[in-house]
Amino acid sequence: MSSYLDRIGAGLVLANPEVFGFDHIPNELVGRGDTQAQLAGMFVSLAHPEGAGRAVVTGPIGSGKTALVKRFCIDLSRHLSERRNIRSVHVNCRNATTASRVMQKVVQDLDPGHPDRGLGVGELLTSLRRMMRLDNSHLVIVLDEVDHLLRHSGDDVLYKLLRIDEDRDGAGTLSLILISQEQVLDLLEGAVISRMGRSNHLRIGPYDEDGMRAIARQRAEAGLVVGTWTDEILDLVSQAAAPSGDARQVIELLEGAAMRAEVAGRSMIEPKDVQHTVISMPNNVDTMDIDSLPAHAMLLLLGICRRLRKQETVTSGEADKLYHVVCEEFQQDPKGHTTIWKHIKRLTQEDILVARTDTVGTGRGRTQFLSMPHMLPSDVARRLETLIPARLRR
Ligand SMILES: Nc1ncnc2c1ncn2[C@@H]1O[C@H](COP(=O)(O)OP(=O)(O)O)[C@@H](O)[C@H]1O
Ligand SMILES: [Mg+2]
Repeated sequence: MSSYLDRIGAGLVLANPEVFGFDHIPNELVGRGDTQAQLAGMFVSLAHPEGAGRAVVTGPIGSGKTALVKRFCIDLSRHLSERRNIRSVHVNCRNATTASRVMQKVVQDLDPGHPDRGLGVGELLTSLRRMMRLDNSHLVIVLDEVDHLLRHSGDDVLYKLLRIDEDRDGAGTLSLILISQEQVLDLLEGAVISRMGRSNHLRIGPYDEDGMRAIARQRAEAGLVVGTWTDEILDLVSQAAAPSGDARQVIELLEGAAMRAEVAGRSMIEPKDVQHTVISMPNNVDTMDIDSLPAHAMLLLLGICRRLRKQETVTSGEADKLYHVVCEEFQQDPKGHTTIWKHIKRLTQEDILVARTDTVGTGRGRTQFLSMPHMLPSDVARRLETLIPARLRR
């Protein structure tokens, strides 16, 4: 009766499945020794009772930013355990786009029973400082994917965090690490940049095929039964993942191939397991967001993308004009400004576009500057050109 369940937990190929999990942080980050040393260099003063560090880490998706910083926080608190009590809080700003959400998350992570309801940002900061002073500890706050917070709410909360000890007794309450895919420095104001320190910017690059292979080997050794994989399998997964530069892809491919072998009842991963996994993997999440857009948001985005092939940014006014041109091309009646405005908002909320508002000009209607840092406008335009006719036919 239960024979169909036999393969669950048989462990023919997968010895430690958790090694392939999303939040698994390996003890060693393969090939990132120099980067780790650079990051550590930004925290040299931390051993002193009033020392604090700051860092801004940027790099493309899957370049290991989150893993780098999480590993650093763990290693750091162990390294200094005799000298200073170092705690850390990791906040992903995708789910915390306002100052108060960020502060609530920080305070609650440190003290799950803390009554944060109704407390303002100022009170949460005071509370945070008191908590750290009371048990004589130092806090490293990591704001991951911080561009979401900055675009939504500006950098005010960073400024407040960086000034937490000003006008008070004692110093060195907290360190701050910002992580982002894109250039964040241009989303920060001068006062924040100078407090973070311009030289504390750590840029990390995408992995190449060799980098991918080394990461795949480490996971295979840690997660798979000995003798179930060969170098050829590692070559295949790293070749397939290399164009993305995204380490997550190589890990997912290896895991997918291992599961296929396991399900087939084999105790050896074969090239066809990799090939089938490659085909079945969605290669780009961003294009899925594009596929589900309403027709007129697609028309608008197409106009914007065509212009972004030649220009860094497009203003909201230009976007409106470009949209009208595209509507004419596809013989559609253009929608009004309110609808277009709503579509622009949605495109930025889904991170397809990034909007920066001009704070210099005052008066009527503030101008937005739209750009596309996460994708290639020419790729998106090509995709839209095939999607739109099908969408309009419905
Ligand atoms: N140098 C490395 N050694 C081992 N694993 C790595 C390395 N770099 C990244 N990874 C793994 O690749 C995946 C993606 O890394 P992550 O830190 O989430 O990237 P990012 O935050 O830059 O998008 C994670 O599972 C991470 O553990
Ligand atoms: Mg990350």
